[in-house]
Amino acid sequence: MRISSVAENTFLNVNYYHLVNDILSRSFGKTPLAFVRTYGCQQNVSDSEKIKGVLKNLGYSFTDDENLSDLIVFNTCAIRQNAQDRVLGNIGILKKIKSKNPKVKIIICGCMTEQDYAANKIKNSYPFVDVVLGTKYLNVLPEVIYNLLIGSKVQVNSLESSDDDIFEDVPIERDSKIKAWVPIMYGCDNFCSYCVVPYVRGREKSRKSEDIVSEVKGLIKQGYKDITLLGQNVNSYGKHLDEKVDFSDLLEMLDNLNGDFRLRFMTSHPKDATKRLIDVIAGSNHICSHIHLPFQSGNNRILKLMNRRYTRESYLEIVNYAKHKIPDLCLTSDIIVGFPGETYEEFLDTVSLIKEVGFASLFTFIYSPRNGTPASLMKDPVTYEEKSKWFSYLLKEQESVSLKIYEEMVGKIFEVLIESRIADNLAVGKTSGNISVEIETLRQDLVGKFINVKITGYNKTKLKARIN
Ligand code: 5AD
Ligand code: SF4
Repeated sequence: MRISSVAENTFLNVNYYHLVNDILSRSFGKTPLAFVRTYGCQQNVSDSEKIKGVLKNLGYSFTDDENLSDLIVFNTCAIRQNAQDRVLGNIGILKKIKSKNPKVKIIICGCMTEQDYAANKIKNSYPFVDVVLGTKYLNVLPEVIYNLLIGSKVQVNSLESSDDDIFEDVPIERDSKIKAWVPIMYGCDNFCSYCVVPYVRGREKSRKSEDIVSEVKGLIKQGYKDITLLGQNVNSYGKHLDEKVDFSDLLEMLDNLNGDFRLRFMTSHPKDATKRLIDVIAGSNHICSHIHLPFQSGNNRILKLMNRRYTRESYLEIVNYAKHKIPDLCLTSDIIVGFPGETYEEFLDTVSLIKEVGFASLFTFIYSPRNGTPASLMKDPVTYEEKSKWFSYLLKEQESVSLKIYEEMVGKIFEVLIESRIADNLAVGKTSGNISVEIETLRQDLVGKFINVKITGYNKTKLKARIN
């Protein structure tokens, strides 16, 4: 079947909305249930909240059990091979569910399905999948579901022309009542040589600042306390907009909003992190003292091969400026171990950088070749076993860096946003620096509140505290 073009079909296309509502209420005799599973990054989590928002408006409720569902959506990730393998394994399991209940509909969407070879593999090896959809699908989801419900076989990916459109006003079914994700831009123009994201998410496209401000205002009004701005490289926000606005301007606009909330952002690319950005954070009321600034490698030759466009020295310069300006700053980073051709000595430059900077925590990955990227064509002589040893060494070194930071926090007072309770006498929350804290307290009224706590101890993954 043919899926209509974007111009003909937006989420607000009331016809499909009504048609699906009508079919669901006539043919199910109960509220139909959808199961949405998300793989990968916060951008995908945010996309899934929109998928759920659309599904809810179409008449679905949600279940955590695939076996009970009438509709299964996998929102997939392509960043590394193991993420992709996990998706394929789990799609395989759906065969059983479909054979027990042939009426269940299965949609696979997200980054993995934007790669032709992966989309074709799903279509050919898993014929029980009903729809393969790319990353820009929200506008056609009601139409896709309608066609599924009336029995048309739909197989689409990479929808024509939706690349240029940002859909505002898509309903969002948020997972939390305290923490919210707000994408400020989509796609990536950087083409780091190892990374598949620019190929599956397309070119950078920023939302208008007035739309972002209005969404954040709404969230504050609803009582959200921890708002994270999302983008593959938030520091290049505004580049293609008609209005003259950059990321520092946007942060200032949001920081000026009234209310009791924290503002975070991820991810920052070091090549675009400016001193002005640091000054804005330092002078703000709401912006957290946390910067996620992925450096990937501490060696200049490898950084060049990665096409990262900064050096170890320029990275350290901005980090040192930030440390100097922002009290209690917590830095976190992403690291790739075993980039093609990396030697052990070059890897040791990464280890020395983590010690020099003192990151509160790290996201560490072993290099995974991605189809179509320049790095996948480079010679990669070091074995996976060898890289795994380097990786374990790095984790061990980082553990002592984190523990040293935790040790220095003991006895001091920090403001924590309480996120949940895990026992009658224990609540958990996050510092402004995004470190997890377990708080001994019998008070049951703390979730969603900012509380000052005194750090009393720590283990490998979190701080321990009591209410001050
Ligand atoms: N192999 C390993 N890690 C990767 N990342 C991105 N692409 C790859 C790859 N091919 C990591 C980077 C990035 C994070 C989101 O994922 O560290 O910052
Ligand atoms: Fe990938 Fe680099 Fe873009 Fe990040 S900045 S999404 S690592 S290409």
